[in-house]
Amino acid sequence: MENPFVYGRYVSGEAFTDRAEELSYLVRELESNGRIFLISPRRYGKSSLLQSARQELLKKGLLVAYFDLYKIATMNQFAEAYATAILDASKSKGRKIMKWITAFLPRLRPKISFETPEAPSLSLDYSLESEESWKELEAIYHLPQKIAMQEKKKFVVMFDEFQEIEKLGGAALEKQLRAAIQSHNRVNYVFAGSKRHVLYDMISNRARAFYQLGEVLNLQKIPAEEMARFIRENMESTGFKIDEAAIRMILEEMRNVPNNVQLLCHRLWSENQRSKRIANANVEQAVLNLVLSYAPLFAEIWDTLTLFQQKLLKAIAQTGGAALTSVRNIKRFELRSSSAVSRGLQLLQQKGLVDKENAHYVFTDIFFEKWVKMGR
Ligand SMILES: Nc1ncnc2c1ncn2[C@@H]1O[C@H](COP(=O)(O)OP(=O)(O)OP(=O)(O)O)[C@@H](O)[C@H]1O
Ligand SMILES: [Mg+2]
Repeated sequence: MENPFVYGRYVSGEAFTDRAEELSYLVRELESNGRIFLISPRRYGKSSLLQSARQELLKKGLLVAYFDLYKIATMNQFAEAYATAILDASKSKGRKIMKWITAFLPRLRPKISFETPEAPSLSLDYSLESEESWKELEAIYHLPQKIAMQEKKKFVVMFDEFQEIEKLGGAALEKQLRAAIQSHNRVNYVFAGSKRHVLYDMISNRARAFYQLGEVLNLQKIPAEEMARFIRENMESTGFKIDEAAIRMILEEMRNVPNNVQLLCHRLWSENQRSKRIANANVEQAVLNLVLSYAPLFAEIWDTLTLFQQKLLKAIAQTGGAALTSVRNIKRFELRSSSAVSRGLQLLQQKGLVDKENAHYVFTDIFFEKWVKMGR
């Protein structure tokens, strides 16, 4: 029997729960000229939500491109992969695509290869050294609008991990992309990402190109009652018995972060195959096993940190990350000064190890936090 709990990748169908409101809001906005910034901490379910929205929009006859910036390392790759994603989403084949390329990207001298007739893959014989050549990339940003006009359809472009754009092409790319996007009346966009401080700066700083370009959808955790129901149903339908207290413990230990809840349930489900019975003690054991399984990885991360950063992480683990700059905590954890603490927190945020939640700092990885707490 398959494990009903899925983690670490986007989920759909049975493994996807709730989000009905967010989904219908997204779909509604994207069919009707909205632009959305979809923001949440890591692992809350942004990509899964985008995939569900994509399915709905396709059913309604729109063209939809999903473009993940995560693995893109250079501007050239960006241009190629973006053009490929747009052409791919156009659902058109060989000859039509060749025609579009000649018409819409004349100066980029693209080479196109088809692995299968449906999946074009584009490579640009192009260098981005001069400012002039950089400017010619604009043609690519206009591709969805041009195709949408030709096909008399609406186009939706979904950027995932959008904050990476900053590293790729800096302010110049942001400006160029914004100008293109603003001129499109047949293309609607979603910009999704998890580096919240980067994204908020992009959209709330007047000096930046994406200032107020769209509405912000802050994706929250899935309501606890809904997650509880999800756990119970998936356990029971696969022959398990689980205590209510154990469900509450799972949600509490994992702070109800969707990915972590599914990860722990996945583990519980496979660890307790014989008894098919889950109580608090089993939850405790599974959490411990997970922390231990990650320990070598955590130790490696730990060794890359300065002593000061290590002290700061211990302080966060022990205080829950509130009032770290208070005189009392600075003394207790030997943190030098409040400005040193602020700088340290900023660095830990840049490293992706901590995140700011309201007024306090939290570990992005709950298991790392538990490992730090366990006696480092
Ligand atoms: N609607 C949902 N119902 C149940 N579980 C979910 C849901 N959305 C997300 N999850 C859980 O969270 C995991 C991560 O989801 P997803 O990759 O969509 O999140 P993300 O916000 O895009 O993460 P990242 O920030 O790492 O890109 C999934 O594998 C699943 O375990
Ligand atoms: Mg994602």
